Amino acid sequence: MAKIIGGLGTSHIPTIGKVIDHDEMHGDYWDPFVKGIQPARDWMKENQPDVCIVVYNDHGSNFSLKDIIPFGIGMADKYLPADEGYGRRNVPTCDGYPALSAHIAESLILDEFDIVMSNELDVDHGLTVPLSIMYDQPEKWPCKVIPFYVGVVQYPQPTGNRCYNIGKAIRKAVDSFLEDITVAILGTGGLSHQLQGQRAGLINQDYDKKWLRNFIDEPLKTKDISHTELLREAGSEGIEAIMWLVMRGAMDEEVNEVYSFMHTPVSNTNYSLTILENKK
Ligand code: DHB
Ligand code: FE
Repeated sequence: MAKIIGGLGTSHIPTIGKVIDHDEMHGDYWDPFVKGIQPARDWMKENQPDVCIVVYNDHGSNFSLKDIIPFGIGMADKYLPADEGYGRRNVPTCDGYPALSAHIAESLILDEFDIVMSNELDVDHGLTVPLSIMYDQPEKWPCKVIPFYVGVVQYPQPTGNRCYNIGKAIRKAVDSFLEDITVAILGTGGLSHQLQGQRAGLINQDYDKKWLRNFIDEPLKTKDISHTELLREAGSEGIEAIMWLVMRGAMDEEVNEVYSFMHTPVSNTNYSLTILENKK
């Protein structure tokens, strides 16, 4: 049977991708960051998940304002890096896992989560930057990838509770997939940042620290935080953190915190990383 072996949360700041792609991730500014993300790279090497389900948001790269999609899943066998205005990132194309995508999609829909299914999908920094954080610059990504996207860039956005519950439904789907494979689930985006308006540049590390503590130890509290609170405390783009709740819902309520790390600022964001495993 398939098994979820870990849940990882990470910010998906595009600058990180640019700096890795241009071999610029060194020097006084980046060295502590490289050291800080190394445990995630080690975890990936030690655990070698066959599949990563990457929960991310498209930033208007594949989708446009023509259709606003609350939740969707990639069904394809390949996902190209999206052209975000500077050409496609020079990173490997992701190999998908259509059989598992189809199984998850069916299970979610029978569980009354009506998601969009994308047979073609280009994946932007929301998905490719976390892979670079986890795997650096391989010729080929070492895992198969299933993109799972959440519509956080346009109002109305799904609630944290909905994200948590869809995570639980993903867990149920993975647990009932008959192939013997290991799966990691990645929640991406956040934590606090605001890229526009009068409060552009807002970072609230105190709030993020409390949020992350509760997220790990008492997720039932975190899932019910209102959009207004997230907007006020973590900035307009800080709401991306609800995508971590999809990952958290796919894990047991009680987890082991393997590692957590924050680095402020990376670009305009309080870069945050956590690695969680189920206790049993
Ligand atoms: C930044 C962070 C994001 O999550 C994003 O999607 C774009 C930019 C930033 O901090 O620069
Ligand atoms: Fe983002």
